[in-house]
Amino acid sequence: MTQNWPTNHWYVAGWDFEIDRDPLARTICGQPVMLYRRFDRSIVAMRDACPHRMLPLSMGIKEGDNIRCRYHGLLLDSQGQGIEMPLKRDPIARTACVQTYPVVERHRFAWIWIGDAQKADPALIPDFWPCSDPAWTFDGGYYRIACDYRLGIDNLMDLTHETHVHAGSIGQPELMETPMETTSAGDQVFVTRWMPNIDAPPFWRNALRQPGPVDRWQICQFIPPSSVIIDVGVAPAGAGATVEHHDQGVRGFVIDALTPESPTTSHYFWGMARNFDINDAGFTARFKTQQGGVFREDTAILEAQQASIERNPDLHLRSYNIDSGGTRARLVIDRLIKAQAAADV
Ligand code: FES
Ligand SMILES: [Fe+2]
Repeated sequence: MTQNWPTNHWYVAGWDFEIDRDPLARTICGQPVMLYRRFDRSIVAMRDACPHRMLPLSMGIKEGDNIRCRYHGLLLDSQGQGIEMPLKRDPIARTACVQTYPVVERHRFAWIWIGDAQKADPALIPDFWPCSDPAWTFDGGYYRIACDYRLGIDNLMDLTHETHVHAGSIGQPELMETPMETTSAGDQVFVTRWMPNIDAPPFWRNALRQPGPVDRWQICQFIPPSSVIIDVGVAPAGAGATVEHHDQGVRGFVIDALTPESPTTSHYFWGMARNFDINDAGFTARFKTQQGGVFREDTAILEAQQASIERNPDLHLRSYNIDSGGTRARLVIDRLIKAQAAADV
């Protein structure tokens, strides 16, 4: 199966809370990787295969910041360099080395660069500013999904699915009645739904803590190669909120980073950043549970869709108007894959 992602990009490898002193094994863009923290809290990302007989190093034993393979005891430092092979004091150990990957911790995530390490510029990390801005609070979770990561992007760039997939949770018929606009800016794609002067749904009414009509928005933003953040919120009608500027009320960003594991499986890092009640830890925990339940409704659909795609190889996906955001995002991804292939030859 062909690779369906561009490699010279930053991908989320894990949440800050997932990576600790003990190794975490995770296959990222087809590469088995082991992640752990040094004593100084910096993160190590190393190929998860011993250079001797390829036992996963994530099964190994930490010795300070080093890792000792559990099979024959080869000791590697956190740069992936062999230090010793204890039983025979084999000098070959010093020539052993394992690939390591550039990794940067930012906006609560560890970002990894699987491609050409020379090109790993931290300035290219997607700007998830609401996840680390002190005026906001952010939390979320992780699901592994048995689907092509692009199906997840399609889903997140398509707001119409809420009515049916989330009928029992966040779906509301009114959402279907508001037109959406799909636009592009460089390699980013936006799907905007602006709902002026409406009655706020219960969640946003509670967040705003005042009665009266509101302007409500949902703005999906695709950030290459595989993130979607959705700007959501309400402002009192007449307060002057516009598509460009809408900080008059309460606002959140639904954060979604999808990282390919294989062509048909992916890692889904999800969460919500918000600028209201930011010190209410109970609210944060309750919302995370609720959001996790809503996103489980999506992952069930996506996994069934992937399985159906594999059972029907003679058919292909069709795009209707509602798919314009995902379609444009896929065009960007295709272009990035082709551009990289051209640059690599
Ligand atoms: S497989 Fe790791 S030391 Fe032999
Ligand atoms: Fe959904």
